Order: sequence, then C-alpha cells, then structure tokens
Amino acid sequence: MQIQLKDFTLAYEERGEGKPLLMIHGYPLSRALWEPQMEGLVDAARLIAPDLRGHGQSDPVPGPYRMELLADDCAALLEALKVTQPVVVAGLSMGGYVALAFYRKYAARVAGLILAATRAGADSPEGQANRDKSAALAREKGVDAIVEAMLPKMLSPKSYEAKPKVVAWAKQIMGTASVEGVVGALLAMKDRPDSTPTLAQIDKPTLILHGADDQLIPPKEAETLHAGIKNSTLQILPEAGHLLNLEQPEGFNQAVRSFLQSI
Ligand code: MLT
Repeated sequence: MQIQLKDFTLAYEERGEGKPLLMIHGYPLSRALWEPQMEGLVDAARLIAPDLRGHGQSDPVPGPYRMELLADDCAALLEALKVTQPVVVAGLSMGGYVALAFYRKYAARVAGLILAATRAGADSPEGQANRDKSAALAREKGVDAIVEAMLPKMLSPKSYEAKPKVVAWAKQIMGTASVEGVVGALLAMKDRPDSTPTLAQIDKPTLILHGADDQLIPPKEAETLHAGIKNSTLQILPEAGHLLNLEQPEGFNQAVRSFLQSI
C-alpha cells in the first residue's frame, strides 16, 4: 500500500485489527523486516509497518534526514490512516532511535514502547567518523557495498553460519534501500541527539528486547535502557543477534504478544 505524504510517497503494510502497533524498521532495512511479526501477530493487534523514506518501496527522497523527520513521517502515516487512539510504537535499532524521537514529540499518542536491539546514547566521535566513511562508500560504490560490509554483523555468528535462508533474507531486505536512503539515514544517525535524558521521562509501559549475541549494539545498551525507564521490562533472547525478530521470531512474537495483552 502507498500513501502520499507532503514530500514523498510512503509505502506501508497494514494487517489485523485492534490495538494499533506501529513497527519501525532499522537501517538499511525495510518493512519486510517485520514479515515474521506480520504473520505471527496478525491476530494480536492492528499492525502498521512503514518503509521509512529512502527505504524499501518508499520514494528515494534525498537527505538530510533527522530522527524527528522520520518520526513525523510515522505520525503523518497514522493520521492518514485515521488512527486516533494511542499506539504501541515498536522500533528496531535505528527504528528505536525513531521511536524515542516519536516519544519526545508525540508522547500523548503513545500507549507503550517496544525498543528492540537499540540504545539511548548518541554516536561517539569515532562512530560519527564511521558514518561519514559509510556514506562515502555508499555514494561511490552503491548500496551493495554497504550490505556486504554489514551483513555478517547483522546476525549472530551462529545464525550467520547455520541459517542461510535468514542470511539471504536479510541481504535481500538490505539491498532494497536506495543510496539516498542509506546516506540520509547515516547522517541522521550521526547527528541524532542523546536520548538518555528522555528515558527518565518515559512513563508508558516499555518492553526492551535484545539479542544476546548482538554484534552491532551490545546487550549492555539494553540494560542501560531498562535501568533508565521506570516502567520497563527487559528480555534478552538467546541465540539471536541484531536482527533478533528474524532470528528468533517465536520468542520475539511471544514477548510482544504478552506485552500487548498487558496494556
Ligand atoms: C540499525 O540496524 O538500524 C543500525 O545498525 C543502527 C546503528 O548503526 O546505529
């Protein structure tokens, strides 16, 4: 499905009914990331999954992007779909940065948060320099070069060895991002604000999920989120890396289902 927003056409998927659950993918991914949740949780909520600008089938809008802009795109989608009740906002990795920006701007529209494989802090100077290097690589060599460099770290070492279908699937999803989307997202992540002060302001139920073997964002970041958000629960999924919802879909879905029932 597609919807015309102010400056681009946004692609999204919507399935199920009931409590709205907005699902925001990470970088450089698309809504296809949520396929196991779209299938496994269709009876549990009204699932709404956008392709962020520049990603998946949304238009390859040139940057610069900011986390607040991506959050505004999500809010515009909810308005267009006439979602008036508060939503549970789920974000994985960069999607978590967007979810925290969404909370800062639209707290009254949030019924709960699901923060998966993400963190509160901003980039270190070294991390920022790496964003610039990756953006230069994407401009010079295209998205495939980014996929090549990132893919082995997106999954746990065990999944990377033993789950070729999941590896191929992750690779395919990452390959649908545009150069504009990759560069826009990299610069938005590079300049994202430190969300640590936001954590103490969050008073909505929050589920924090993290893969025990995440090679991109270590599980201690999930513990920091848990320590900072009063009303939060933390679940570390074994044998899962950064894309824990693809690697351990049953455990992930079970945790989300129980969380949805609790609010
Ligand atoms: C993501 O998966 O969204 C990104 O790897 C997050 C990041 O690079 O900070």
